[in-house]
Amino acid sequence: MTQQHSLGVAVVGTGRMGADHVRRISEVTSGAHVAAVVDLDTDRAKAIADGLEGCAAYGDFAEAMASPDVDAVLIASPGPAHEATLLAAFAHDLPVLCEKPLTPDAPSALRVLRAEQALGHRRVQVGFMRRYDREYGRLKSLLDSGELGRPLMLHNRHRNPASAPGFTSAMLVNYSVTHEMDVTRWLLGQEITSVTVLCPRPSANAPEGLADPQFVVFETDGGTLVDVEIYVNSRLGYQVQAEAVCENGTARIGEDHGLFVSSDGRWGGTVTPGFVERFEDAYDRQVQAWVDATRRGEVTGPSAWDGYAVAAICEAGVRAQTEGGPVEVQLVERPALYR
Ligand code: NAI
Repeated sequence: MTQQHSLGVAVVGTGRMGADHVRRISEVTSGAHVAAVVDLDTDRAKAIADGLEGCAAYGDFAEAMASPDVDAVLIASPGPAHEATLLAAFAHDLPVLCEKPLTPDAPSALRVLRAEQALGHRRVQVGFMRRYDREYGRLKSLLDSGELGRPLMLHNRHRNPASAPGFTSAMLVNYSVTHEMDVTRWLLGQEITSVTVLCPRPSANAPEGLADPQFVVFETDGGTLVDVEIYVNSRLGYQVQAEAVCENGTARIGEDHGLFVSSDGRWGGTVTPGFVERFEDAYDRQVQAWVDATRRGEVTGPSAWDGYAVAAICEAGVRAQTEGGPVEVQLVERPALYR
């Protein structure tokens, strides 16, 4: 791949995230274009491809990957479909940006890890896009600098306005808290060793049977204690906040310090409505970083190992919902490819 060549991307899954990534690659990202869109709903894929010059529509990802116009794959289908798509991309030795989760459980994530190892080189970047958020980036730089001393505790708050229909108590952990699992490991450079889940009496705003909110505690191999308040029917908007408590000070992000208005004896601003608005810049930077690395012939960002580790933490988290905890996280030894 030369720096002059525009990267031809096949976007697999053209639902909410996939359609947004198609728009992003076409309108925001430099050095790439959408060469193919794939969806089981072929009418949907065709409607998207019709609006893009040089873009073909497919119902089957294997057919798209066989096209000479496809240099790389962005997977935005639902989690259970990821493993088969990743293995097909490996068969063509294509670079992949895979939306989180890598796969929905640890055994399938391990199969993907082993298949990538068999290639002998990394091919996958997992879509843990918070690592590309500028505020998280500043917090990581500060913690890495050692200026505040060693991190002792990390408090996280993750609030959504309302849960989607069919959202289950397990999904609070294995769909929402996955982002905190990844940023915790990344920010601290430590592995999560156990998970405890505590639940208060559910909010009256939560649908019948949904344990919402939940209070999740991680212990790490570096001795840092981490908590996550996950509240998906908070009604107040979308808030993702983190506060690191270190030996010599604290650092906080996610305070929504946008426009503050003072008028009529009151002051205040607005809460961001959703994840698309809160992390728009992070999604853009994630895809641009993937395209740039791919054009340089490199694979950077969150790896399949990170995807596997989060799947294993989710497994412990879902057990902790019924067993209490702490439930120990079971990980295989980290392969050399990911050290
Ligand atoms: P969605 O349900 O809106 O769209 C999924 C699309 O994939 C549908 O059009 C469906 O027909 C298609 N599809 C299903 N199986 C397929 C297959 N085997 N081959 C091709 N197409 C297939 O789902 P949504 O919300 O867009 O989520 C997609 C992915 O993005 C999931 O992995 C989800 O976890 C992730 N996600 C990530 C977020 C983030 O903040 N990073 C936020 C929301 C979702």
